[in-house]
Amino acid sequence: MNIGIIGSGALGANVARALARKGLSATIANQRGPASLAALVEELGPTIKAGTVAQAAAADIVLVAVRWVDLGRALGGLPAWNGRIVIDGTNPVEFLDPDSPDAKDPSNPLAAYGIKAIDLQGRYSSEVFREFVPGARVVKALNHLDVKVLTQPEVSGGQRVQFYSGDDAEAKAEVRKILEAIGHFAVDLGSLAVGGRLAELPFGPLAATNFIKI
Ligand SMILES: NC(=O)c1ccc[n+]([C@@H]2O[C@H](COP(=O)([O-])OP(=O)(O)OC[C@H]3O[C@@H](n4cnc5c(N)ncnc54)[C@H](OP(=O)(O)O)[C@@H]3O)[C@@H](O)[C@H]2O)c1
Repeated sequence: MNIGIIGSGALGANVARALARKGLSATIANQRGPASLAALVEELGPTIKAGTVAQAAAADIVLVAVRWVDLGRALGGLPAWNGRIVIDGTNPVEFLDPDSPDAKDPSNPLAAYGIKAIDLQGRYSSEVFREFVPGARVVKALNHLDVKVLTQPEVSGGQRVQFYSGDDAEAKAEVRKILEAIGHFAVDLGSLAVGGRLAELPFGPLAATNFIKI
């Protein structure tokens, strides 16, 4: 199974870094194009290639690592997904300009983190996300911890836990293999409606909580 990564920022680059550490291959893309990724792919070595969004999206397993507000532009106009696996690494938050009134809004509990929750009207995030990738098998994963820990799977004499959830058992099994291959202890939280909600930021009860399997 080959892997594509759409988004080369904090999440996309650190997943690529985690894959590269284990000699795993991926094609990574962003909106500025492959040339802008020259320094990253040089740092990560021969297994990580820079590509276009279309090339990354053509992989068997595609991680979407763009900001929520960019989903439409990043995923619009791509060829049919035809049952391929898409990892939803996103969270429904808006990144705030530090000088904006929102960033200083005392009613925003996330202002200190420079983000604001996006109101999904009671829907869970992967329920909305999958509308951007019709026909794909969506697995929610890699979204619930600080990206810096992706390359630190071994910790305190144990393995860091990565949650994942999805509605297709075979797709989940493939994503589980990736989480295990990068050294983490993968825990299946069930369906997107249950597990996705539990681990989605900002307010899922399991989000941003580090568990260690000892
Ligand atoms: N940061 C975290 O700790 C963290 C942890 C877990 C989950 N997440 C989630 O991961 C997602 C990405 O967050 P991030 O912190 O990695 O954001 P980021 O650092 O701002 O990176 C966003 C990436 O998306 C790319 N992008 C934007 N529009 C695009 C388009 N139309 N086509 C292709 N690529 C496009 C950008 O391309 P350019 O580089 O060319 O601008 C950039 O590489 C968000 O949904 C976030 O909630 C973040």
